[in-house]
Amino acid sequence: CRVEYLNYEVLDDRGWDLDDPDLMETAADGGLDREDYGQFWVRPRESLLEAAERHGFAWPFACRGGACANCAIIVLEGDVRTRVDHVLPQEMLDQGFQLSCNGMPVTDELQVVYNVKSMPELEDLLL
Ligand code: FES
Repeated sequence: CRVEYLNYEVLDDRGWDLDDPDLMETAADGGLDREDYGQFWVRPRESLLEAAERHGFAWPFACRGGACANCAIIVLEGDVRTRVDHVLPQEMLDQGFQLSCNGMPVTDELQVVYNVKSMPELEDLLL
């Protein structure tokens, strides 16, 4: 699976909108560092967090076990299946939130915003 990713901190700093359908194009043209925007490949049975780490990126996490939401991402395009999730309520899943620590792609292409733990929605869920 090919993942296109964007750091939420950059989006927030630049005042970009998560709902903008051209968000990833804007990011691609934004002259961002590789750690903030880019693409990588996820291997079979690899989580998004593991794939990010294998590519040398330090995505946030704490428990790695589906209990804290520090690793939360928002899936803009494609689908992710998270095996263990004790923390995200259904309404957040409906909005596209998933956990990168054990979330695995189920589509060939994904667009995700990572590092969303500073979003107000996550505030009460972080351990
Ligand atoms: Fe805690 Fe993913 S790191 S839920």
